[in-house]
Amino acid sequence: HPPNLQMEENSSLRRSMCRAKGAAPGFKVAILGAAGGIGQPLSLLMKMNPLVSVLHLYDVVNTPGVTADVSHMDTGAVVRGFLGQAQLDDALTGMDLVIIPAGVPRKPGMTRDDLFNINAGIVRTLCEGVARCCPKALVNLISNPVNSTVPIAAEVFKKAGTYDPKRLLGVTMLDVVRANTFVAEVLGLDPREVDVPVVGGHAGVTILPLLSQVKPPCSFTPEEITYLTDRIQNGGTEVVEAKAGAGSATLSMAYAAVKFADACLRGLRGDAGIIECSFVASQVTELPFFATKVRLGRNGAEEVLPLGPLNEYERAGLVKAKKELAESIQKGVSFIKK
Ligand code: NAD
Ligand code: LMR
Repeated sequence: HPPNLQMEENSSLRRSMCRAKGAAPGFKVAILGAAGGIGQPLSLLMKMNPLVSVLHLYDVVNTPGVTADVSHMDTGAVVRGFLGQAQLDDALTGMDLVIIPAGVPRKPGMTRDDLFNINAGIVRTLCEGVARCCPKALVNLISNPVNSTVPIAAEVFKKAGTYDPKRLLGVTMLDVVRANTFVAEVLGLDPREVDVPVVGGHAGVTILPLLSQVKPPCSFTPEEITYLTDRIQNGGTEVVEAKAGAGSATLSMAYAAVKFADACLRGLRGDAGIIECSFVASQVTELPFFATKVRLGRNGAEEVLPLGPLNEYERAGLVKAKKELAESIQKGVSFIKK
């Protein structure tokens, strides 16, 4: 849609004439898994983002309906839908940012690692497409287990000769969003005023909130620290149990994904001082991947920031986090290398 090729050409010509008159250029963004629980609200929110000029929605089911629906919103981005593997390359060609929430979610009683067998293959196929069609795009990887899917993506890109560690970002923003919310509740503050760094990875004990570095500066009782750390580490499980078999976090995740994607796009645009937490290739610890604050710029994660001072409780948490992370990273790497 529009109904014929001539009209589509005319409309695209008119659009580029408008741009030539000085309208702000936008970025081309693809969402892979766009018809899913996260994908649908994420598509809605990205269609509302003024930095997006073209939005490609790809899934193996239901994209025609989601695309028709979202495309009627009177915001700037032009929306196109792509259905099934045969249309993956068209969905990806020319993209600046690819957001990947494709894959199965948890049910009660499962760990994120229980999703590995299905999601590892999905992420591999999609990243092979990225390497073929938009090797310079930033990738925001949401599919679980993030601690393994990011290493999988890195190995796929290495194999294809396109790997740029700055452009591959595991999305851990939901941990930060939750941490800000729960800490604000305890402190009696507006969550928008609170900034909690969350480092490590995105599963259980690998999720390490640094409560000693909360802004605005504050102090917590030992009971508050135990409560907050436990709640932040198990935020995903809290939602999985509340949904009772109907999936995991989708709405708060779409919000977090858009918050992170928007930061990536502002970085691509050249804005200064964009700092967010993300699971990236890192030399902050001895592990090859680790989540910390990163500075986002024209090339993606241009600087990986150090951990900063940790207290004794956090140092003990870091030891546990690194042990589990090392195994999850190795599992991802072996999946491609074997
Ligand atoms: P969902 O089942 O509702 O949607 C997943 C979508 O992926 C479906 O529409 C499905 O058709 C699609 N899909 C499956 N295989 C595909 C393929 N090969 N190519 C393209 N699309 C494909 O699940 P959801 O609730 O949207 O969750 C998606 C993933 O995100 C899960 O792995 C979940 O664990 C993860 N997740 C991560 C975070 C995070 O913080 N990083 C938060 C929440 C969920
Ligand atoms: C989350 O943190 O909500 C996601 O990783 C989904 C899950 O399985 O918990």
